[in-house]
Amino acid sequence: MQEFVEMAEWLTSQNLHIGDRVESLPDPNFTAHGRKYVSFSTNNYLSLAKSTRLIEAARRGLEAYGVGNCESRLLGGDLGIYGELERKLAACKKKDAAVLFATGYLANLGVLSSLPQTSKYARICGFTSAREYTYAYFGDEFNHISIREGIRMSGAARATYRHLDLNHLEALLKRSTVSTKIIVTDGVFSQDGDIAPLPDLLQLAERYDTTLYVDDAHGAGVLGEHGGGIAEHFGITSERMIYMGTLSKAYGGIGGFVATESHIAQIIRLACSAYGFTSTLPPDQAAALCEAGDMIRDEPERRVRLWENQRYFVKRMSDLPYRLVSTNSPIVPILVGDEDVADGLARSLGEFGIHVDAVRFPAVPLRKARLRIQLNTGHTKQDIDFLVDTLRGQQHCVGRHKQYLNERNVGIIA
Ligand SMILES: Cc1ncc(COP(=O)(O)O)c(C=O)c1O
Repeated sequence: MQEFVEMAEWLTSQNLHIGDRVESLPDPNFTAHGRKYVSFSTNNYLSLAKSTRLIEAARRGLEAYGVGNCESRLLGGDLGIYGELERKLAACKKKDAAVLFATGYLANLGVLSSLPQTSKYARICGFTSAREYTYAYFGDEFNHISIREGIRMSGAARATYRHLDLNHLEALLKRSTVSTKIIVTDGVFSQDGDIAPLPDLLQLAERYDTTLYVDDAHGAGVLGEHGGGIAEHFGITSERMIYMGTLSKAYGGIGGFVATESHIAQIIRLACSAYGFTSTLPPDQAAALCEAGDMIRDEPERRVRLWENQRYFVKRMSDLPYRLVSTNSPIVPILVGDEDVADGLARSLGEFGIHVDAVRFPAVPLRKARLRIQLNTGHTKQDIDFLVDTLRGQQHCVGRHKQYLNERNVGIIA
């Protein structure tokens, strides 16, 4: 008992971030502690979460189905709206089928932990085979924690390759003797913003007869002409690929899914406890997310604006003495290094009404702290100018942007 008290005291003294209360969610403007802010660290990339169309769809869903489903889908909770959402997601990803989970975290945990258990599960159900099935995962060192946890829980052999180092990956694949190999990668890396080289990964997957699992949490709705994500971005379809996405970022709601071939979907439905032994997202969410899928398809101007903002920010930052970790996705992190300096920078931006997350260990390696800037379709050029000028630290920054601050009633002027 006493050890928990000691640990809690010590951890608290380390200034580890445990969240901050907000009064409204960023779209990208929001209020907190009675002040207005503009967020440059929100996953609500397309500003869908508070859009009228999504709210109306959720309201219709609430009226049709009520607040929750109170059952897992294997029992009485398999409402038709879930199937409808799954069909839409599968079609968007050009896959046979999709399987929904309550969150993206749970999708990774559930699918990655259960796939290597498939043969054990089948044998319990009477399947016989002389062949011994063995499994191994090969994961990028910067994969999201839900991936690393899922792999660890699977009990399968695992190897980690250096970030984006395909030679290292190939050496590991070459050495492996297991019967089933699975490469796992983030699509857009959540803390670095760089994009996995999917065509090269797929080539390796083909050469070594391997499945490729891609977590496209930050690419779904954002990458590709129609928002189809990383596969559409590279113009790739492959039966080898299991596509995982979240509905909690560009889609503006909550939930996770995998889109895949029907036999894999069938295995997940039958053998994955995170699908079968828990309730899923509420039905009004599913109704809203069906609409979000349509909006992502029907309103490409949201994506166009997001990318215009991304390019504008990168261009404006090129004059400043900051090091950008990567510049090819809406996540454009500024590398700071020292944890306390990153926190201090985020705090001083906050004083100007700009919200930016300082990301630090354990989310990124020690001494690799950063400001995780995420561009948004709802940013104006003036928002971006104000951020860049504030980062430049010009004394006259506030004076120059006074009209902007007054108009938006942001931060210090509010
Ligand atoms: C790459 C990646 N995968 C998975 C997740 C988990 O998604 P969710 O928030 O839907 O649980 C996140 C969330 O931050 C993520 O960045």
